[in-house]
Amino acid sequence: MEIKIYQGEPEPARLVTCFQDLEPVGLPQELHELVTDMQANDEFKGKFGETHTIRLKGTPRHVIVIGLGKQGELTLEQVRKIVGKAVKAALKLKTSGLDIFPAEFGDFAPPHLARAIAEAAELAAYKFDSYKSERQQPTLESVNLVWAESQEVPLALAEGKALATATSLARRLVNEPANKMTPAQLAAEAEAMGESNNIEVEILEEDRIQALGMEAFMSVARASTNRPRLIVMRHRGAPESDRMLALVGKGLTYDSGGLSIKPTEGMAFMKCDMGGAAAVVGAMAAIGEMKLPANVVGIVAACENMIAGNAYKPGDIIGSMGGKTIEVGNTDAEGRLTLADAITYAIREEKASHVLDIATLTGAALIALGDVHTAVLASDDSLFGELEYAAELSGEKIWRLPHDPEYKVLLKSDVADLRNTGTQRLAGTIAAGLFLQEFTEEKPWLHLDIAGTAWTSKEGDYSDKGGTGWGVRTLYHLAKQNG
Ligand code: BES
Ligand code: ZN
Ligand code: ZN
Repeated sequence: MEIKIYQGEPEPARLVTCFQDLEPVGLPQELHELVTDMQANDEFKGKFGETHTIRLKGTPRHVIVIGLGKQGELTLEQVRKIVGKAVKAALKLKTSGLDIFPAEFGDFAPPHLARAIAEAAELAAYKFDSYKSERQQPTLESVNLVWAESQEVPLALAEGKALATATSLARRLVNEPANKMTPAQLAAEAEAMGESNNIEVEILEEDRIQALGMEAFMSVARASTNRPRLIVMRHRGAPESDRMLALVGKGLTYDSGGLSIKPTEGMAFMKCDMGGAAAVVGAMAAIGEMKLPANVVGIVAACENMIAGNAYKPGDIIGSMGGKTIEVGNTDAEGRLTLADAITYAIREEKASHVLDIATLTGAALIALGDVHTAVLASDDSLFGELEYAAELSGEKIWRLPHDPEYKVLLKSDVADLRNTGTQRLAGTIAAGLFLQEFTEEKPWLHLDIAGTAWTSKEGDYSDKGGTGWGVRTLYHLAKQNG
């Protein structure tokens, strides 16, 4: 599907939007009458998201009429939802093209509007159906923005498309089942991403991971026949700057829980346990594609948490690349072990000055915030401010949790420097974050727990069930501020 600025022949479908209880503005007479008649007959009030599909009399053309809600209350995220609804309606109608008139949404800055529309239009069409024997080819070929073009619009449109493509990539990486998306396959996907987006990608195999002293990572990885990979993705967009942002993604291509095995229900969707890695691969794709003037390194310690005679065990005491010793309280708290070493690698080997980690880390985040907000811990208020701004641009919601020193008792071990689980599962999300902070060597640090947001069991306005690609766009906007 192509998204473009176009003022030529009208397409067979057109989106018409209208604010609640107001007369539509700027419509050609025929459509104006159609909408005002519907309003007069009480068939259409213009409530937010209210959708009607109408065939124009005597023509093969359709109008998709959608309410915008109260004037003055419309947000960019709501624009994405409206555009998503329109694209889904057009896909259902099997039309070849859809016209959208961005001016109908009101006074948004044109670049912001163009980016949001491009994101939603492409993402609404995303489907994971590559394993279905009978696939329906979508018929929608083009979405046209009928618009008096302003100068910054083409770049914003390109940015929106790049972000949508990168988010679709992240969704696919998560949706691929664990028997296909092994650590080696994830590494191959990262390499392919690097090829097409100008990102330098280096894959470290087991011998080098061992040689670096990544004992925590290797302990988790040990019991699987699918061997681990350390994936490093580099973008040097600001060679003069000494700022280096590390994006570290949890890359458990499968999490059985290990010897602290999960029940079947809990295991069923643990192919999503590389959602953080997918967000980082996706963000790096968009960062490379848009040639952001910032230095960013993406790191993924990819492995499977499995069971075998050589598996790591509750009670084990293991080392880490950073030097701290760790008592294993539970082998299902594996993500923090792999991430700890990945963070140390980012700081010591890639000279990261700022660290962000993103991970499907704790069931507690899912319990606390559901699939709406991503839980965040932040060591630095100004870096958190940048993340807040990035999340506002992307429409992805975040919620900051406290991490007062009182919580540190949750990491205490009688026999080692740290323990990978607290007692009684108190403050699970905070405890996991604080564990990671022990490896950040005082660098400004952000921790994003996407256990609730990386996956959804319901279809959204511009998303399908399954992997959401959460984080790709927020990470991109954060990197953009880090030049
Ligand atoms: N991958 C899981 C967390 C998870 C749960 C992600 C649900 C997505 C949805 C993680 O490795 C895990 O199992 N965490 C444990 C930690 C506990 C043993 C301290 C948890 O949250 O129960
Ligand atoms: Zn686990
Ligand atoms: Zn896990």
